[in-house]
Amino acid sequence: MVSGVLVALGAVLVGLFYFVFLSKPRWKNAPPGPSGIPFLGNLLQMDKFQHITFNKWAKEYGPLYKVKLASLNMLVVSDYKMVKEIFSESAFSGRMDFTDFDFIMDGKLHGIINTESEHWEELGRFTLRQLRDFGFGKNSMEDSIMLEVNDLIKGLKAANGKPVSNVKERLLLAVVNALWAICTGIRHKHNDRELIGMTEKANKAFEGILEGGGIMLFMPWVAKMFPKWSGYGLVKQELLNFTNFLRKPVTDHKKTRQEDFDRDFTDVFLKEIQKTTDPSSAFHGQLGEDNLAATLGDLYLAGTDTTSTTLSWMMIYLSKFPDVQKKFQAEIESITGNSRPTTVSDRPKMPYTEALIAETLRFSTITPQGVQHRAIKDQEYKGYLIPKDTVITANVFHIHFDPKVWGDPETFRPSRFLSPDGKTFKKHEALIPFSTGRRQCLGESLARDNLFLFATNIAQRFEILFDKNGPDNGFESKLSFILTPKPFNVIFKDRLA
Ligand code: HEM
Repeated sequence: MVSGVLVALGAVLVGLFYFVFLSKPRWKNAPPGPSGIPFLGNLLQMDKFQHITFNKWAKEYGPLYKVKLASLNMLVVSDYKMVKEIFSESAFSGRMDFTDFDFIMDGKLHGIINTESEHWEELGRFTLRQLRDFGFGKNSMEDSIMLEVNDLIKGLKAANGKPVSNVKERLLLAVVNALWAICTGIRHKHNDRELIGMTEKANKAFEGILEGGGIMLFMPWVAKMFPKWSGYGLVKQELLNFTNFLRKPVTDHKKTRQEDFDRDFTDVFLKEIQKTTDPSSAFHGQLGEDNLAATLGDLYLAGTDTTSTTLSWMMIYLSKFPDVQKKFQAEIESITGNSRPTTVSDRPKMPYTEALIAETLRFSTITPQGVQHRAIKDQEYKGYLIPKDTVITANVFHIHFDPKVWGDPETFRPSRFLSPDGKTFKKHEALIPFSTGRRQCLGESLARDNLFLFATNIAQRFEILFDKNGPDNGFESKLSFILTPKPFNVIFKDRLA
């Protein structure tokens, strides 16, 4: 026992020595940035919502500044043109080392989000192609989403004009189901315990990582040394539980797969594993199966909470801005006569709807720092030598709320994305909710289809009213991996009954 404590103490001292004396960033001609203290750097200066601090520092230090968060050297990029340049370079397309949180937990990295170089390219290319073939942007995906839209509308009708408090959960289950049907062929009932359990496990694990001041992210070696105290033990357990959910369809599909008929993404992935003989491939043997489970986890985590949270924000905005809601409903009626549901093919004819989706993505900015990249080698940019392993953060919140770019960023105004006559949707280069460059979101087109089909068909059917007797937190979010609305109630009043 005593020797255990001594070993732990010794390890902490070695770690401290390393951080204070040896882990100095190797910047040459470093960009400006706030000064910090030894060991922790700028960690104690951070707001619990990091983007608030990053936004403040962008105003002080300009579009490129450096920060040190314990062991991490970070470059924060607050100009959208620079984000585009930096994220299009392969030298800046790495990821932070999340081996400790990898689903498979065998000390290696798997799947798409956490990997880099050849395996990332192989898996990313394959996944995008297969999901397109299976449905991304195709009728089968639209059918799958519409099944869920119709079920959701049925459920909202059953609330009979009473306030609905679990809008976010209802949307999440619907979005998960549409995706899971394509990935694994499984469609759950909306009150299915397995699906709800899986969602809870994943969220609990990832929210746990943020708790405790980010020790697990910034000082993983300390977190692992004291798993109980840091919460790492619990997170690891939740991740293992979630991984069991991901492994189940893989095991089941191996038993039921037929050579000549691919039912879903899992089947085609297994087929790829079967024909792969190159041991260095991401699809080879057991590694291939691990990558399949991890990729399912990536799609689930990257694709479901993001989409349903954006839709939840949209429900709040529509209920808080009735004029916007009326214009939105008028456009839906002008295209469908309210006698049929909307379809994805209506989208190009609905500029106000596109503008509303764009403004929702800007105003909610659910990933205010995007997903961090890592410099995989020393690389020069704008006269600075960015050292290998620097973590690169796109200051998306600052970019989406920069008055120099948007004029009145604090106002929710879809018309900023329309031509002066209101007839044409205008893209804006500074809107980067799905990031940009080599690691740009792989599910953007699916996310956009989801946002369009859910929002238009809900608004066609219901008048969306904010429940004045329920909680009202304005547009405040709670601390989570993405910016999520605090509890709210909405009344769905049937317009077509
Ligand atoms: C409103 C919804 C969504 C938003 C706002 C969003 C946003 C993002 C962002 C900011 C990134 C990081 C890109 C980077 O590292 O530079 C990302 C990556 C990713 N997204 Fe999405 N996403 C959404 C929906 C989806 C959907 C529906 C899927 C698929 C089912 C998906 C799959 C992925 C994957 C696999 C990556 C990792 C790409 C890589 O590391 O190479 N996302 N997303």
